[in-house]
Amino acid sequence: MAELDTLDIVVLGTILVGTVAYFTKGRFWAKPKDPYANALANGAAAGKAGRTRNIVEKMEESGKNCVVFYGSQTGTAEDYASRLAKEGKSRFGLDTMVADLEEYDFDTLDTVPSDKILMFVLATYGEGEPTDNAVEFYEFITGEEPAFSEGSEKPLGNLNYVAFGLGNNTYEHYNSMVRNVDKALQKLGANRIGSAGEGDDGAGTMEEDFLAWKDPMWAELASKMNLQEREAVYEPVFGIVEREDLTPESPSVYLGEPNRTHLEGTPRGPFNSHNPYIAPIAESRELFSVKDRNCIHMDVDISGSNLTYQTGDHIAVWPTNPGDEVDRFLDTIGLIGKRNTVISVKALEPTAKVPFPAPTTYDAIVRYHLEICAPVSRQFVSTLAAFAPSEDIKAEMTKLGNDKDYFHEQTGPHFYNISRFLTAVAKGQKWTNVPFSAFIEGLTKLQPRYYSISSSSLVQPKKISITAVVESQLIPGRDGDPFRGVATNYLLALKQKQNGDPNPEPFGQTYEIMGPRNKYDGIHVPVHVRHSNFKLPSDPSKPVIMIGPGTGVAPFRAFVQERAKQAADGVDVGRTLLFFGCRKSTEDFMYKEEWEEYKKALGDKFEMITAFSREGPKKVYVQHRLKEYAKEVSDLLSQKGYFYVCGDAANMAREVNTVLAQIISEGRGVTEAKGEEIVKNMRAANQYQVSIPPPQPHDPGLLQLVLTRAIGGCLVLEANVRRLLRSNDYDHSGMRGMAKRYRMSWVCCDTLSPADGQGTTSVISARVTGASGCETKYYCALGSGG
Ligand SMILES: Cc1cc2nc3c(=O)[nH]c(=O)nc-3n(C[C@H](O)[C@H](O)[C@H](O)COP(=O)(O)OP(=O)(O)OC[C@H]3O[C@@H](n4cnc5c(N)ncnc54)[C@H](O)[C@@H]3O)c2cc1C
Ligand SMILES: NC(=O)c1ccc[n+]([C@@H]2O[C@H](COP(=O)([O-])OP(=O)(O)OC[C@H]3O[C@@H](n4cnc5c(N)ncnc54)[C@H](OP(=O)(O)O)[C@@H]3O)[C@@H](O)[C@H]2O)c1
Ligand SMILES: Cc1cc2nc3c(=O)[nH]c(=O)nc-3n(C[C@H](O)[C@H](O)[C@H](O)COP(=O)(O)O)c2cc1C
Repeated sequence: MAELDTLDIVVLGTILVGTVAYFTKGRFWAKPKDPYANALANGAAAGKAGRTRNIVEKMEESGKNCVVFYGSQTGTAEDYASRLAKEGKSRFGLDTMVADLEEYDFDTLDTVPSDKILMFVLATYGEGEPTDNAVEFYEFITGEEPAFSEGSEKPLGNLNYVAFGLGNNTYEHYNSMVRNVDKALQKLGANRIGSAGEGDDGAGTMEEDFLAWKDPMWAELASKMNLQEREAVYEPVFGIVEREDLTPESPSVYLGEPNRTHLEGTPRGPFNSHNPYIAPIAESRELFSVKDRNCIHMDVDISGSNLTYQTGDHIAVWPTNPGDEVDRFLDTIGLIGKRNTVISVKALEPTAKVPFPAPTTYDAIVRYHLEICAPVSRQFVSTLAAFAPSEDIKAEMTKLGNDKDYFHEQTGPHFYNISRFLTAVAKGQKWTNVPFSAFIEGLTKLQPRYYSISSSSLVQPKKISITAVVESQLIPGRDGDPFRGVATNYLLALKQKQNGDPNPEPFGQTYEIMGPRNKYDGIHVPVHVRHSNFKLPSDPSKPVIMIGPGTGVAPFRAFVQERAKQAADGVDVGRTLLFFGCRKSTEDFMYKEEWEEYKKALGDKFEMITAFSREGPKKVYVQHRLKEYAKEVSDLLSQKGYFYVCGDAANMAREVNTVLAQIISEGRGVTEAKGEEIVKNMRAANQYQVSIPPPQPHDPGLLQLVLTRAIGGCLVLEANVRRLLRSNDYDHSGMRGMAKRYRMSWVCCDTLSPADGQGTTSVISARVTGASGCETKYYCALGSGG
């Protein structure tokens, strides 16, 4: 046999390798990737590992002509991005994909062809900052001279885009993300189609703002891109396959575990918003419990993890849905009998992402991954109409989906979640025709809830304290069945369990406290830490003034704890003023005894100023007490003292801001306008820091009856009912005054007392006449003796 030369060996070797590779493909290599296989499941790393970060390449390889980017912290912008992508596809035949801003680079934006469209759905966070996943994009696009692949004077001259922002008008930098990105894109020559929309959480109109923005946007886009509108036909994004080969006991089946490491029982860090730490609860107790109002203190032990925190940070709690709502949901859609059936969930097109790991069960998806208790989206109602159990119900759903006022009239006062809503509309008939994919697409992912850490990292670096008030609101017509918040009642159940209750059932609700496969046994709670800029001055000798009514005091317990420790260690600590407000000194005065201890350590450096709102004939609030301390506050600020506000957003923070400007104007002998300017500068310089959550829809603490856009008249009206209710003239003459002020033709307030005599609910109804003469009716409910 002739001898092999080097070339033969190379050729034979290559053939051999090729043959082995061919027969092992899919077994040892090129296996379909499980995106939940590692700890950073679904996160940035998933985007970085293997997949292209070049959006133009991505569009080409996946045949897309429309990319909807989102910048989102708590899921709303992500949800809106998915909705735009679906609508673009079903109504206009666009080839759409949703994209996380964090997963792409943007230097090739200048090569996006002009027959493509980019959409940006951007929430604003922090103090006018981008969401975590949008930081790189924001810095790039608003940078001095973004470096694009093909430098030219107007590098984005070919780029067509649309933009919608999510914000909250109670923040100083309202919707600054969308505003700044829009400005930057225009400066770079890009062409915006339609107006840049802005949704306002502060007014409680986010969903309606989005719906009102998108229709004219689609019309303009259709004309610009020559799109033919067609009847929208629902096409599922996810394929659901029942797996008879698997049972819930099969080791590969996810029963609520967030990713593979958790499934395999070896969760490991980094722990973050994609990968929670299952933390032992060290201690839990109730700070107060009056009638049906509860407030929890919980210490979470992070010593077994690599988690760290700094005083002022936030902890995120990953809740599970309450058992009765899980049952109700599965029953409504006819899946209760199949709750433990194992299913695979596969994206039917390559750019879609399944928002949880699979194979899994219907029960696990509903319990651990979908926001089934949240308010119903009107757009989702339109989607579901096609699957109604009868033609009558379909017609009603279509009307509800199309008629904003009718929808709010029918749903507003009831606090419906999706299954309660579907049950009410269908009068109890089951919704068995809805493809399960529609729920995965139409409901938001169950979101972690954030809490201001109420401990100091100097005092207890490995134990994080949470101070949370349990959400509960009486609903007219739902006697004995108030609305209950998801995460806070879960925390209450955990507290009950830890304190010896074998069957914790806060207000009759059950939770899977043991977690998937009993992995949370021994009382654990899934958490991660989010760093924040809400920080004490680095120089402890600087004075601080803190305003924290209710649970808004949480981060200030941490601040005072820290300064007490510093003082005990001999550090020179500056004057520390805490303005705290609650209803009654005997009812909801949190950490009453602890403040005495801090006082012992801090001496005269510490002063706590209280405002009890329901003890005397008149409401006393923190801002009233702040006024009384005007002289000292003004002096401390002149000494470069720091000013902090935390808690309920719309009114308290705004009113404190106004009082502060007055104090400065009087203290420094300048005009009020100058006082306001000084306050603004303090905020810009971080000398004045605010931590306020967005108002929740129907939040009784922030009850705003928002009367927007009276039809045809572009008249924007906002009646702040809460202020009225909390003022002392809470009666019909006050109502009449408000009606006049806000040009309402009729306002009425009914106070309902449930049979158990606990608390009351006020139902406010108003009718507003728009400039065109059309009338719109609004309803709001305010619960529990407020
Ligand atoms: C940065 C930050 C820090 C925070 N710190 C604290 C803290 O220290 N302490 C604290 O107690 N809270 C804090 N919060 C608030 C906290 O994150 C939660 O929002 C709060 O505990 C309620 O959560 P929940 O799951 O119990 O209620 P959810 O179930 O989320 O309900 C919240 C509200 O949404 C509305 N809502 C929900 N579902 C419906 C429906 N179907 N129909 C109508 N309305 C509905 C209601 O107004 C309800 O009160 C903070 C928030 C942020 C953003
Ligand atoms: N970092 C954060 O973002 C953060 C941290 C902690 C808590 N929170 C949130 O803050 C909210 C606080 O709720 P809570 O139940 O603890 O408080 P709460 O009991 O409803 O209110 C505390 C006190 O503030 C008073 N108050 C009402 N309106 C006011 C106004 N306009 N100005 C000043 N004081 C006012 C209340 O008086 P009356 O009720 O008698 O009118 C009460 O005395 C919750 O929604 C919580 O989730 C947010
Ligand atoms: C801690 C926090 C800070 C916020 N800061 C701002 C802000 O500075 N400006 C603004 O317009 N909206 C602000 N918002 C409102 C959010 O943009 C709004 O709630 C939005 O719906 C969140 O969208 P997401 O769920 O996609 O993260 C803030 C919200 C939170 C919770």
